[in-house]
Amino acid sequence: MSKKAGVIIIGSGIAGLMTAHLLADFCHVILITKSKLKKSNSYLAQGGIAAAIDRNDHWHHHFTDTLKAGYGHHDEANVEEMVKQGPNIIAQLMKIGVKFDTNEQNQILLGMEGAHQKRRIVHINGDQTGKEIIKQMMVMVQNRITIKEDTLAVQLLKRNQEIIGVKTNKELIYADYTIIASGGAGQIYENTSNCQEATGDGMVLAYQAGAQLKDLEFVQFHPTVLMKEGKPLGLVSEAVRGEGGVLVTANGIPLMSNHPQKDLASRDVVSRAIHHQNINGEKVYLDITSIENFRARFPSITKLCEKANIQIESGLLEVRPGAHFFNGGIQVNSNGNTTLNRLYAVGEVACTGVHGANRLASNSLLEGLVFSNKIANHIRNRRDFISGIKIETNFFGRDLENQVMWLNKSQIQAWMSKYVGIFRTKESLEIMLSKLRPYESLLNKPTDYMIHTREHLETIHLLQLAFLITESALLRKESRGGHFRDDYLNSDPDWTKTSIIWKRENEMN
Ligand code: SIN
Repeated sequence: MSKKAGVIIIGSGIAGLMTAHLLADFCHVILITKSKLKKSNSYLAQGGIAAAIDRNDHWHHHFTDTLKAGYGHHDEANVEEMVKQGPNIIAQLMKIGVKFDTNEQNQILLGMEGAHQKRRIVHINGDQTGKEIIKQMMVMVQNRITIKEDTLAVQLLKRNQEIIGVKTNKELIYADYTIIASGGAGQIYENTSNCQEATGDGMVLAYQAGAQLKDLEFVQFHPTVLMKEGKPLGLVSEAVRGEGGVLVTANGIPLMSNHPQKDLASRDVVSRAIHHQNINGEKVYLDITSIENFRARFPSITKLCEKANIQIESGLLEVRPGAHFFNGGIQVNSNGNTTLNRLYAVGEVACTGVHGANRLASNSLLEGLVFSNKIANHIRNRRDFISGIKIETNFFGRDLENQVMWLNKSQIQAWMSKYVGIFRTKESLEIMLSKLRPYESLLNKPTDYMIHTREHLETIHLLQLAFLITESALLRKESRGGHFRDDYLNSDPDWTKTSIIWKRENEMN
């Protein structure tokens, strides 16, 4: 069974849907998702989109804030382009029917988040920004592209160093261009703000095909994941602190009062402060008593609390840091091209270098939208289509090795949280590697297994990614943003622009 498309997109978050929308009138677009269309981190995004649209703001301020939050480990040209595009992206969304929150004079309301020096976060229905944009994007692509839900991408199809489509668990789909937009890997940790689907699939598929991955050690932990009885329930947006929420200890002492930016310090700083309390057995709460009309401003968070029987009126929400965003990923250039011909990556799965070592709040949807536009423009100007498809592939793959049957996701999550979490040391990282070693035979193999259950595939992907993150964290002998080493407490200027890059030695053909 096989099909041919102009473009195949893996993933249905904001980057995948926007690229699909922009290419739908150019070629046949097939979009596959291993789950349902709405199941993405984009759909869950609360805060909004950062854009310098206020007349007292300027792209240069947004640029400076982005570099500062990410500790200078950026591709500055890409950052400049992204922040300059901010206002155009907001206009583009409005043109397709997205309605941002406005005041009575019809001016767009701007929220505040950590490490921004200005109010510049546009939002929808308070904290339902992602959901509303995704709903609108789904309307835009409906009946214009082919959508395949519950379809697993098992392997990228490769011919002579170029990617010519995707092997799924159901069929082979050939395409002139393949775009990975499958999001991040928050599910590699126990505590995460991410949806169940965020298991690093795209990064591993690209790695197995021989594309380069970059900056995997920089994992962003969001400071405020709502907790109840030790269980993570979902995100409490940073915008809550932007509106006056204060982190306090169980004794009511403000946690961030000594930091110049207080509760709006960058995420890595706030997460470490909370984690420090947690490892000493102390709980941390978000005091929301000073926020007027909390229910109206934050309806999603209110719903989350009500569902868990947490009383908003108590004014205190228990929070803990949770894995939130991968600053690294598949290495791409400024057009979204990976290191393999015909293969693009966009959104969280890609590493464009715009986030450095720690992403600035509400820059992720912006990045996804800016680079979707760039990829769509690039593809529209290409005229190199594939022909003469003849590919040797054993569609049914090999039998699944036994080892993976007795390793499960929760074991990987527990190890990663303990040994490769917010604080890392040489010892903890080496322990992690010793845990992974028994599975070494699985680490460098393509996932063309006969049993393509989602659970098995995700387990293998998490395992491979765990190995690469741990090795990267061991190699980077400094602390910077989302990578904090207890045995190298400071940033080392020699590492500022240096990246750890992975390329599989014997990539599959
Ligand atoms: C949040 O609302 O705090 C999350 C937004 C983001 O990750 O940028």
